[in-house]
Amino acid sequence: MRFGGLVAVSDVSFDVRPREILSIIGPNGAGKTTVFNCITAFLRPTAGRILFEGQEITGLRPDLVVKRGIARTFQMIRLFPDLAVDENVMIGLHARTRAGTLDSLLHTPLHRQEESWAREETFRWLTFVGLESHAHYRARELAYGNQRRLEIARALATAPRLLILDEPASGMNPAEKAALVQLVGRIRDSGITVLLIEHDMSVVMGISDRIIVLDHGIQIAEGAPEAIQRDPQVIEAYLGREDEA
Ligand SMILES: Nc1ncnc2c1ncn2[C@@H]1O[C@H](COP(=O)(O)OP(=O)(O)OP(=O)(O)O)[C@@H](O)[C@H]1O
Ligand SMILES: [Mg+2]
Repeated sequence: MRFGGLVAVSDVSFDVRPREILSIIGPNGAGKTTVFNCITAFLRPTAGRILFEGQEITGLRPDLVVKRGIARTFQMIRLFPDLAVDENVMIGLHARTRAGTLDSLLHTPLHRQEESWAREETFRWLTFVGLESHAHYRARELAYGNQRRLEIARALATAPRLLILDEPASGMNPAEKAALVQLVGRIRDSGITVLLIEHDMSVVMGISDRIIVLDHGIQIAEGAPEAIQRDPQVIEAYLGREDEA
């Protein structure tokens, strides 16, 4: 991915295996979010290809990528702050409904059916992330850690087979991070593959099946957490500089 004269990501090639938790780590500006933006079609890569379940999705369109089964959260939280918590989740469900605006205006049976289905699904995902008692708050009224969980609930509501999380633990306190680790484990146990960017090494090392390391847009290592922690190039590029970050 090239931005004018800047090559943000080059030499990156990896597979995500079904039902694994794969993390991408690397220093600030390494190109991690850019990789996610390319996968989710927020950016069209200037070279290279992205395949999902055997089909090319490069540059498709963000909403169509969601329909194919890939959902994401954002490094900078993107909620509708003035909408209720449950309404934010319903927006995720929208990708899966069939009734159009006309159905909803005319209160057709399809619309009514989908409405009760949507209420059940919303409650299911709010419960899954532990926010069911906050359903009628405005999103902006939630504590920061809960806003991150709400973003995850909205993403899950699109029924993804791949969930992409960009720094979900950022800004969380230790108790919230522990709950997040547990939540991501439950997401994977439910059959969803997880691709994760995270700076907190206790979260990354505890949760990942595999880790990919980026530095200056180049993939410098790939392996199990124990191997990554011992890799001299990784220590040099990233882990060794952690205290300066
Ligand atoms: N839309 C854009 N236009 C121009 N440059 C961009 C754009 N998005 C990212 N970049 C640049 O690409 C490089 C990689 O950025 P990216 O956000 O992917 O890094 P990152 O690894 O996610 O970093 P961080 O850990 O700080 O989130 C940086 O130099 C950044 O300034
Ligand atoms: Mg980033």
